Amino acid sequence: MSSQAEYKKGIAHILNATPEQVFLYWKGRVGLYALLRAMGIGKGDEVILPAFTCVVVPNAILYAGATPVYVDVNPDTFLPRPDQIKAAVTERTKCILVQNTFGLSHQVDEICTYARDKKIYTIEDCTHGFGGTYKGQPNGSFSDAAFYSTQWNKPFSTGVGGFAYLRNTDLQEDLMKVNEALIPVPAAKNFSLRLLILLNKYLLNDFTYWTLLKLYRFLSKTGLVIGSSGGGEIASTEMPEDYFMASSKVQHSQGVRGLKKLPEDLKLRKRNALKLNDWMRENGKYHIDHSLVSNHSFLKYPVICKDKDLFTAKANESNIRLGDWFNSLLHPVQGTLSPWGIDDENQFPIAAATSKKILNLPADTENIEKLLEFLEDNKALIE
Ligand SMILES: Cc1ncc(COP(=O)(O)O)c(C=O)c1O
Repeated sequence: MSSQAEYKKGIAHILNATPEQVFLYWKGRVGLYALLRAMGIGKGDEVILPAFTCVVVPNAILYAGATPVYVDVNPDTFLPRPDQIKAAVTERTKCILVQNTFGLSHQVDEICTYARDKKIYTIEDCTHGFGGTYKGQPNGSFSDAAFYSTQWNKPFSTGVGGFAYLRNTDLQEDLMKVNEALIPVPAAKNFSLRLLILLNKYLLNDFTYWTLLKLYRFLSKTGLVIGSSGGGEIASTEMPEDYFMASSKVQHSQGVRGLKKLPEDLKLRKRNALKLNDWMRENGKYHIDHSLVSNHSFLKYPVICKDKDLFTAKANESNIRLGDWFNSLLHPVQGTLSPWGIDDENQFPIAAATSKKILNLPADTENIEKLLEFLEDNKALIE
């Protein structure tokens, strides 16, 4: 069996699906774009999404020619509530994106049932939640389709990468037709990705994390190395020329390896997150409500900071691998969001306030005691 076939089979196994329902792409966002196109979504159509996401999500909608319609989030979950979504629906709504921020799938069945009744498609953004479950079913099981990311910080990593799961098989032929336009990955890109994966494996550790992160973000913005987002995707809404790219060999082989480790990694993340949640609750800090914990696959543990810069500096000193999702309504864009259709971020007050205060703790740390000690020492900086 080729590594591509083995990879698809491994993903399908976790999703209780067939390999024919799994489609591989260079990045998760490419899968989203392909799904929107397969659904026939384009000019004049509206797609509903949270106003607390990664900029590449509205980019995919705009590249398809459609209009993103944003909804504020609920501070308890960092997800929009079903009633907020329903209020945003118009006769032009063609699709609702259901995101599982930091790994939490919540009220997905309610949103998807509502959408199905209204003949509106649903796509789950499971980029944070592959391997997790909602009401006993794998994340991504309730909607017409879902997409997933295997970028560096995701449930398992292929450097960059992603895939889509098509549950509504009525769209199978359309998606296959759309995929005919996929650009094969050039050998040089496959090679650079292999090199980056090796460097990540041998050079990245708690001590080098901050320096390498800054260097990687700088180099990927300039296009010198393969990055999570090229400078163009952050600065404009024009589709990059080589955007619609297929998956590569190194992603397949790396993916097969990553899937094998996934159950252990998930267990570790959940175990750590429960300890962090207990600490936050005992200390009167923001924490995830007990009723949500069992459905949460905890890619990251969110922390709401009184002083984000100071908390970051302290984490830097203590070699804690902190994340900064989402540092804007459309991460990582700073400054005007007008090109993406947001003229005033205060239309989304909770997302706006949260993006100024939120950081994420590494749920996958091998040294949870060190992290808890760090929290204890910096308690005063946490809300
Ligand atoms: C919520 C969300 N959606 C989509 C994506 C895009 O995934 P990818 O980088 O694989 O395109 C990300 C990336 O981190 C994300 O955080």
